[in-house]
Amino acid sequence: MTQLVASEKHLLGTKGMTAQEITSILDRAAYWEQYPVKLSNHLQGRFVANMFFENSTRTRFSFEVAEKRLGAEVLNFAAAVSSVQKGESIYDTVKTLESMGIDAGVIRMKPNGLLAELAQKIKVPLINAGDGNNEHPTQALLDLYTMRKQFGDLRGLNVSIIGDVRHSRVARSNLWALQAVGAKVSFCAPESMQAPELAAHAPYIKMDEAVKADVVMMLRVQLERHEESVFKSTEEYREAYGLTVKREATMASHAIIMHPAPINRDVEIDDVLVECGRSKIFEQMSHGVPIRMAVIERALN
Ligand code: CP
Repeated sequence: MTQLVASEKHLLGTKGMTAQEITSILDRAAYWEQYPVKLSNHLQGRFVANMFFENSTRTRFSFEVAEKRLGAEVLNFAAAVSSVQKGESIYDTVKTLESMGIDAGVIRMKPNGLLAELAQKIKVPLINAGDGNNEHPTQALLDLYTMRKQFGDLRGLNVSIIGDVRHSRVARSNLWALQAVGAKVSFCAPESMQAPELAAHAPYIKMDEAVKADVVMMLRVQLERHEESVFKSTEEYREAYGLTVKREATMASHAIIMHPAPINRDVEIDDVLVECGRSKIFEQMSHGVPIRMAVIERALN
């Protein structure tokens, strides 16, 4: 598969980003989070197309809010009511919007690797809003932003990423971004949900140890991407790899819980923990807006 790297123009992944690049996005997001008014005219007269070839709630709407807060003109493309239904390819769709004069495109798609090819052919900046199980860079950036707000410094922070690592673009983007800024990443997953190619980059550890980290990041079990059932029941998965109330009681007092959402309540995390005192899950979602403002601005300025 073609390796995606962050370039000046496109934001395709966190792999290859430097600590300095990441920090400058987090700093700019902090500026936008403090910005006193909801609407600015920073991107007045610029057109941004949100092209979602795969479903989304958080990413799609937070990009739209971010673009509108920056004063951009927003075009929302929905594959279900487009000529994709007549067989038009992703490339032809993006090229069509480019020919109409968009200034940047936010794109989510199922295939792995296609985005790197598109980025070589499309002149306007493309921002990856999640591609297959490859990368979801803005999710990782908002996750790092959340951790930095909590702990101040990311260097030396222990982060456990627990669950369906194999199907998770969030796990991959977090791994690359966290390692770039000096945090320590460990994975915890049943064998069927491990990504063997990542074992060279971060260790797989046992659940009892994983919940002792500074950050316990739970991943959604991506049932829609599983070809066959790996657990007999969701209850069996919860017992073995879920963040249960019993396990939460063994976490360090300063530790936080994160999850990119959507959440399978009472599967990877107990329902009562989703909004408990140490959970940052909805705070993560709110950080999606300033992070995406910073990223859109970076692409267009
Ligand atoms: N976390 C995330 O990417 O959520 P959506 O799929 O709803 O965008």
